[in-house]
This record gives sequence, C-alpha cells and structure tokens, in this order.
Amino acid sequence: MQKTMRGIVKAAAGPGLEYRTDLPVPEIGENEVLMKIRCASICGTDLGIYNWGDWARRRMKVFPRIIGHETTGEIVAVGAAVKDRFVGQRVSVETHMWDGTCPHCLAGRRHVCQNMTLYGIQTDGAFAEYSKVRADVTYVLADELSDEQGCIFEPMGSGVHGVEEAQVKGKTVLVAGCGAIGLTVVAACRVFGAKTIIASDLYDEKLEAARAMGADVTVNVRRENLVEIVLRLTKGLGVEAAIDVTGSPASLNSSLKCVMAMGCLVSVGLPGEPVTMDMTEDLFYRQIHLSGICGRRIWETWDDFTTVMKDPIYDMKRVIGGQFALEDYEAGFARMRSGAPGKMFLYP
Ligand SMILES: NC(=O)c1ccc[n+]([C@@H]2O[C@H](COP(=O)([O-])OP(=O)(O)OC[C@H]3O[C@@H](n4cnc5c(N)ncnc54)[C@H](O)[C@@H]3O)[C@@H](O)[C@H]2O)c1
Ligand SMILES: [Zn+2]
Ligand SMILES: [Zn+2]
Repeated sequence: MQKTMRGIVKAAAGPGLEYRTDLPVPEIGENEVLMKIRCASICGTDLGIYNWGDWARRRMKVFPRIIGHETTGEIVAVGAAVKDRFVGQRVSVETHMWDGTCPHCLAGRRHVCQNMTLYGIQTDGAFAEYSKVRADVTYVLADELSDEQGCIFEPMGSGVHGVEEAQVKGKTVLVAGCGAIGLTVVAACRVFGAKTIIASDLYDEKLEAARAMGADVTVNVRRENLVEIVLRLTKGLGVEAAIDVTGSPASLNSSLKCVMAMGCLVSVGLPGEPVTMDMTEDLFYRQIHLSGICGRRIWETWDDFTTVMKDPIYDMKRVIGGQFALEDYEAGFARMRSGAPGKMFLYP
C-alpha cells in the first residue's frame, strides 16, 4: 500500500487552496473505514472555504485540512470493530456526523445533532486519493447508481428532504427555483406522486430542464406573474404545498402568497440575508405551516433519494456540469464561479 497521496488542502487560514502530492494516506481507527475516492463533487461550501468567507472561518481551525465532502468511495480497509461494512463496497458519506448522545440523536433526529462534526470541513475529507471516515456515517450505494449519483446524495438530498417534509402525494405543488437542487425536487415530487407540479425560475433553459424532469407547468418570473398564474390554475385557492429552492427573499414571499390556507411552505433554499414578510396577512391569518430544511434525514432521505435516482425521469445529464481531474480543481472551481449550471466533479 502506498504511504503518500495526492489531495487538495486548505493549508492555512486565508483565501485559496493547495494541491499536494505528499499527504500521508490516513490510518484508520477500529470504528472507521478507508475509502479509495472514485469521485467527489464541489459544493458551494467548498467555494466558501476557498474564498475564506465567514462561515468557513468560524468552523475551520485545524490546518492543513483536506477538504471535500460530496463523494463516492470504495472501501479498501475496515477497522477491527466494524461489522457491517466490507472491502469492495461503494459508499457515500453523511456530512452531518452525529454524536449519538444528545437529545436530538436519542430522539432519532440525528441530522440536527447538537454536537455534529462536519466531514471534509472539521475532519479531513474527499478531495484526495483516500479518505477515512467513521463506518456508521457511510451509506452503501445500490449497484444501479453511478459514482456521480453517489456524490449528489449529500448536496441534492436536502431537496429530497424538502419533498418528504411537504408530503406531496396527490397534491398540487409549487417548486420555486430550478437550479441543481430544484430539478431534483421536481423529479422527487413526480416520483412521490404529486398531482400537479408548477415550477418557476428566472431562466427558460432551467424551466425546459424542469419540464423534462417532471414539471407540468413552468413560469418564468421575469416575464410572468407567478401568483396570478398559480391562483388561476387552482381556482383562486393556491397550491397545497410550495417548496422554495431559490434562497431568494423575493421568491419566498411570492411562494408564500401562492400557498392555500392551511397549506405548507418548505424552504430548502438558504437566504443569505434576513427576509421580510407580512406574517400577519400571509402566514398567520391563513394558518400556513412554514418550515426550513437542514440536511437529510438519516437514512430515510437517502433511501427515498435512491428511489428517485432509480426512476428513469431522473436525468443525470442535466445534473453534471463538468468533470475534471483532481489536479485541475482550479478549472472546476472557476467553472462553478462562472455560474455554469450543474455539479462539477473531481476525479483523483
Ligand atoms: N437546506 C439545506 O440543507 C441546503 C443544502 C444545500 C443547499 N441549500 C440551498 O438551496 C438553494 C438552492 O441551491 P442550488 O444549488 O440549486 O442553487 P442554484 O443557484 O443552482 O439554484 C437556484 C435557482 O433559483 C433561481 N431563482 C433565483 N431567484 C428566483 C426567483 N425569484 N424565482 C424563481 N427562481 C429563482 C435561479 O435562477 C436558480 O436557477 C440555495 O439557497 C442553497 O444555499 C440548502
Ligand atoms: Zn455540500
Ligand atoms: Zn447528537
């Protein structure tokens, strides 16, 4: 077995990343597995780490740190105490590594663990040839899924979690925002039995992708009035559920106005600024249930997402934005910064 490996690290506090060829191959503890990384994808969080924004600065204290948390790896070694993972299995990783002892963990809500550790941010991660991780935070991939599909459980899974939260079966649903995650939301609404799916975005090409992934009606909010269209389609009532995947305060407000009384608005999108809304008129008087989404339910969302990805409607060609060798990570980050659609994948 080789002793050193290639990988991408945050070498010190401050902007930028470094490509290294002399990193030690991790040694596993008794409850861990060693993965040979097959591919990894770049998250908005990684871009934030690269730029050294506030979020990263508050969480990253140890350097050098190998980053990357959206991945598919093949297990090449298992610790002595690991009973249910085996060499040769392909796995993905749950970034929210729970402690198993806090009140949330004990109540089965591990995804909001009070003391969670973030894989690839607070531990060494997957932008490398090998990565070690606790065995119990790995998810064994179905054979039908590709390596790239294994990578997107983590980023797009929050969208599937939003669909679970909205309980879409038989409902008329609005999906606001058809970016990488929104498209997954549209497909998951279709697979989980929504009656009618209305999708909105600012760009026609994203709406065209949404129709291919299962949307019945699409609305370009630059040209058309979303609230008027939704009310017309629902005989003035509004949709039973809206899932907002934009992170835009303006969109959250119009989504709220599209929801019928007693309906729900689920926000998967994370607004980067405080949101102003007329809570009295739009939320309270109409008794709307508003909820946010944090990560993925462990492992329910992963199993549901497996069902979605096995469905022919889920078109990976629309999800893949670019594929790069690990050492060409700068090109992958640049493509992402340019606003190009889809996920960027790195191959060690
Ligand atoms: N809750 C979580 O756990 C979690 C996890 C990961 C990402 N996110 C968030 O999910 C959101 C979506 O992520 P993404 O990767 O798909 O982003 P993205 O930028 O690819 O997609 C956002 C889409 O919303 C569209 N949009 C913007 N304003 C709009 C408006 N007013 N009306 C309709 N569409 C509008 C954009 O054109 C774009 O297509 C982001 O806010 C991201 O931070 C949340
Ligand atoms: Zn991510
Ligand atoms: Zn916990």
